[in-house]
Parts: sequence; structure tokens; C-alpha cells
Amino acid sequence: MNILMVCLGNICRSPLAHGVLQHMANQRGLNWTIESAGIGGWHVGNPPDHRAIMVAKQHGIDIRQQRAQQFRDDHFDAFDHIFAMDRANLRNLMARGKTAGQRARIQLFLEDSEVPDPYYDNHLFEPVYQLVQQRCNELIEILS
Ligand code: 4NP
Repeated sequence: MNILMVCLGNICRSPLAHGVLQHMANQRGLNWTIESAGIGGWHVGNPPDHRAIMVAKQHGIDIRQQRAQQFRDDHFDAFDHIFAMDRANLRNLMARGKTAGQRARIQLFLEDSEVPDPYYDNHLFEPVYQLVQQRCNELIEILS
């Protein structure tokens, strides 16, 4: 199972979802590969935002080794599931149109709500972490 988490910058929300779900899958012995990508390319090659690294570390998860990448059309065929952190991300993915032989099922990470963007609000990192952790627990149950 390959899963791609997508947000805008690939330095805050999707790296957290990537790190948390990979950690949970590994703990359960599931052979899942999780990656993450950003709609925008501003941070390509960079590690996650230091606030995302810190909140993950406070919960025992190390995401320092991640490097941001920009979403590419070939990702549509490389993953079983693509999860968008907010509706703008989802719209952007859908607007690219389905590619031939598209493999991925594309959906909102939270079924009918959004993960708020914490980039401009330091206080959102912990609540975002909690949302991500709760949903990753559900995804492990639903998809395993
Ligand atoms: P993310 O947060 O989408 O959760 O990684 C953002 C990070 C950077 C920017 C926007 C959102 N930015 O505009 O650079």
C-alpha cells in the first residue's frame, strides 16, 4: 500500500500526516509506504517547518529526515490513495484531470472537513497534530 499526503507547502500538515501514519503502520508491521507532497514548489528539498518537527518530536515522532517535494502528475499512478489536507488542495488535484490509467483514489484526509493551515499561526500546530493523529488511527483501521 502506497499513500501520498498532499498539502500546500509540504512543510507543515502533510509531513505530519506522513510521519504519523508511517510510524503507526510500522508499529503494526504493515508494509505501507507513506510519502507527502506540496501543491506549491517553494520549499522543495527543505526539511519540514521547525514547528512541525517540534510538535512531532513532542509526541515521539521524528520527521527531520523528510524533504519537501512538489506534486507531479505521475503521482496519480504511483499511489493507491492520495489524501488532500484541505479543499483547495483537493480542487487543485482534481483540476489536473484524470490521467490515463490513474491508480490513486483521491479524497480529503478528513472526510468532510479540512486540516487548518498552521503556517501563519503557531498555536495551530498542536491542534493540527491531534487531528492528524486521530485520523491516522482511523485510516489504519479502515485500510488495513
Ligand atoms: P502546509 O503549510 O501546506 O501545511 O505545508 C504551508 C507552508 C508554506 C506555505 C503555505 C502553507 N507557503 O506559502 O510558503
